[in-house]
Amino acid sequence: TNGKATNIVWHKSSVGKLHRQELLQQKGCVIWITGLSGSGKSTLACALCQALYSRGKLTYILDGDNVRHGLNRDLSFKAEDRAENIRRIGEVAKLFADAGLICIASVISPYRRDRDACRTLLPEGDFIEVFMDVPLQICESRDPKGLYKLARAGKIKGFTGIDDPYEPPLNCELVLPQKGNNYASPCEMAETVISFLEEKGFLQ
Ligand code: PPS
Repeated sequence: TNGKATNIVWHKSSVGKLHRQELLQQKGCVIWITGLSGSGKSTLACALCQALYSRGKLTYILDGDNVRHGLNRDLSFKAEDRAENIRRIGEVAKLFADAGLICIASVISPYRRDRDACRTLLPEGDFIEVFMDVPLQICESRDPKGLYKLARAGKIKGFTGIDDPYEPPLNCELVLPQKGNNYASPCEMAETVISFLEEKGFLQ
């Protein structure tokens, strides 16, 4: 059985996703924010969380940096560990969405294949991929944690965008900041996401 559990049967509860959603007056989903380090993923996640909280909507943020302090503390930044990081975050996000929450995942998630695998975990339409389309040059000039500087100096190996790949989405739900609006504030970007959620009926 190669060490995997067998003889496990799904246990169904009498209170289901629809009941929870009715209680919360919202529809569970996953907002998956992908992009380079310093592209503003966490800032957007927080602005979105705040704006939805003001509207009485329940969210939960899964931030790569934070999850790597706990659940994923055993993982490095090599490709197979990044894949496992994304797989676990995708599975947790799926549980939160099933709980009726608007789950906001904020992770570089550099590989298209790993993000697509997370998408397939959710019901059609419930995975909303948001690409923070900020050029490397700008992310590097911001360098909020000084990590690009260390990567350029060879003190961090395999840093995304420097000597490790980032594969932008080919077909995602939203690209931010929107064309012609490069200077949109985090609040403005959050409103763009909220308009999308409203349009798709997630906020009821
Ligand atoms: S990944 O690729 O999705 O597994 O990465 P993630 O879990 O989002 O973690 C990204 C944050 O970790 C810091 N960091 C690195 N990023 C990229 N490459 C390397 N080698 C690396 N080492 C440390 C970095 O601060 C990222 O933070 P963000 O929030 O993206 O700026």
